[in-house]
Amino acid sequence: MCGIVGYVGHRSAQDVVVEGLRRLEYRGYDSAGVALVAAGPDGAGRVEWRKRAGKLANLEKLIGEEPLPEVTIGIGHTRWATHGAPNDVNAHPHLGNRRRVAVVHNGIIENFDDLRARLEDDDHQLSSETDTEVAAHLLELQVGSGVDLTTAMQRVCQVLEGAFTLVAVDAEDPDRVVAARRNSPLVVGVGEGENFLGSDVAAFIEHTREALELGQDQVVTITRDGVAVTDFHGAPVTPKAYHVDWDLSAAEKDGHDWFMRKEIFEQPHAVADSLLGRRTRTGALQLDEMRLSDQELRDIDKIIIIAAGTSFYAGMVAKYAIEHWTRIPVEVELSSEFRYRDPILDYSTLVVAISQSGETADTLQAIRHARTQRSKVLAICNTNGSTIPRESDAVIYTHAGPEIGVASTKGFVTQLVACYLLALYLAQVKGTRYGDEIADVLHQLEAIPAHIETVLSRAEAVYELARAHVDEPTVLFLGRHAGYPVALEGALKLKELAYIHAEGFAGGELKHGPIALIDTGQPVLCVVPPRGRDQLHGKMLSAIQEVRARGARTICLAEEGDTAVAAIADTLIELPRVPVLLQPLLAVVPLQLFACELATVKGHDVDQPRNLAKSVTVE
Ligand code: M6R
Repeated sequence: MCGIVGYVGHRSAQDVVVEGLRRLEYRGYDSAGVALVAAGPDGAGRVEWRKRAGKLANLEKLIGEEPLPEVTIGIGHTRWATHGAPNDVNAHPHLGNRRRVAVVHNGIIENFDDLRARLEDDDHQLSSETDTEVAAHLLELQVGSGVDLTTAMQRVCQVLEGAFTLVAVDAEDPDRVVAARRNSPLVVGVGEGENFLGSDVAAFIEHTREALELGQDQVVTITRDGVAVTDFHGAPVTPKAYHVDWDLSAAEKDGHDWFMRKEIFEQPHAVADSLLGRRTRTGALQLDEMRLSDQELRDIDKIIIIAAGTSFYAGMVAKYAIEHWTRIPVEVELSSEFRYRDPILDYSTLVVAISQSGETADTLQAIRHARTQRSKVLAICNTNGSTIPRESDAVIYTHAGPEIGVASTKGFVTQLVACYLLALYLAQVKGTRYGDEIADVLHQLEAIPAHIETVLSRAEAVYELARAHVDEPTVLFLGRHAGYPVALEGALKLKELAYIHAEGFAGGELKHGPIALIDTGQPVLCVVPPRGRDQLHGKMLSAIQEVRARGARTICLAEEGDTAVAAIADTLIELPRVPVLLQPLLAVVPLQLFACELATVKGHDVDQPRNLAKSVTVE
């Protein structure tokens, strides 16, 4: 939530900051603003700022009408509103009484009410409803007392409670940008004669791929020639450097109308990349980043998967795979609920946290709770350098590349791949499956990219279907077994992108209530399991018959050659034949295409759906 940029160097700060905000806009788009430090007519510095409610385009229009000075130091912000309505006044940056310090902020300052009351008693005029404005006033008080902005930031952070990334400039110190982080993301980009700050590396990837990871409760000062990091008490800290292994092209739309559509079409690559290098020369499965010993893994007698949104649905699929291949019992829980129910955890429980962004606050807090209970935490994450893998005992990185569309697509399929790898690895270590069985599944996984290509080659038929449903008030989704989470994910995609009421149900559950929703013409998307020795396929067919008998129009996703489904489906979307556990990797793709196209036809902003943000860094 909220995107933050800071820059000091030799380029136009306005250009660098606005471009950075464009790349971070997926994090929030309720308002945008910039602040630059310029020399005043008398040689004294001054802060110049522009801010505007709505998307970045509104800010750019304002800057067009009221140009900013050409300077080389500045900060910027794109907001996902928490405290205060998304209007011009609440937009960041916020300034102190004397307009000397400007601040942008991501997170929530929990004790802002108290601080605000004290400031107002001392004649500070606070004009917004935000929690952020208190930080601007407090910083200004500190620099007014004669300390530099770095010391001011250290002191102010000691009185703030909650989660925050703060980035500030001081009119009287036009050579430094100072930032702080606690429980909220911030990375440093290291250039030549210039340095950058960003909520994530997308903010500066155009200029440098050398980055520094910041830890909890740290303050960073960037100047043209250097970066200095301390803790909140001023003790120096050496940050961890890393090289970003993707380039600008990964953050461009590449001829697609939306990032989301581009990311859907990147899935074959993303899956292949997430499988790369996972086998030893003898064919055994290896997970480099595992960091848990075989003995620790053998000691595990329960797994709890925690995640939110789409990642939660990946976790639901993982439960089927892990339990089937390892016989270890698995619970799947929404991370926002987890720690509040006092879960039963100990050293033999493995907590698996799934997060594309690696910054989701609900999941992070759940991880912290699990670790206080002595459980080991393994993260499945797509974002190098993010907080969740850093705070976990082990990590399996997915290699999807940056996911910019707010709706997760390639994030989901690569999470599934990582979950399958984890399940197989546990089976290998615990000896619950023979080596050739594991090799067989790996082989089937390696064929998935080609199968996804096949599904994507039929996109036009799905688009047509979407266009035919543009006025539908409700769409229902049915699935069974590993297809049930896919049904839930299909419904989530439709809700978040097309703003259509959509619900997913387990096929067998229909008759316990939801079937009352079925009326003549009601569209129902059915994820049909492949034919097999179990009875799943037949049971799903019965569910389809039940809704058809009540007038539903059925759109069935089924494996090629499934004549039984072909005979009863109003519309059939064929999928290549794969085992039931792997079918989610294919079945989700038409559902992503369906939601993307339907939202496009409705004229929605597919990459930035209303009220949402990519990275949910508040609880
Ligand atoms: O970054 P995370 O995977 O932790 O994010 C979890 C959810 O916020 C995310 O999946 C969300 O539900 C997406 N909008 C789904 O498309």
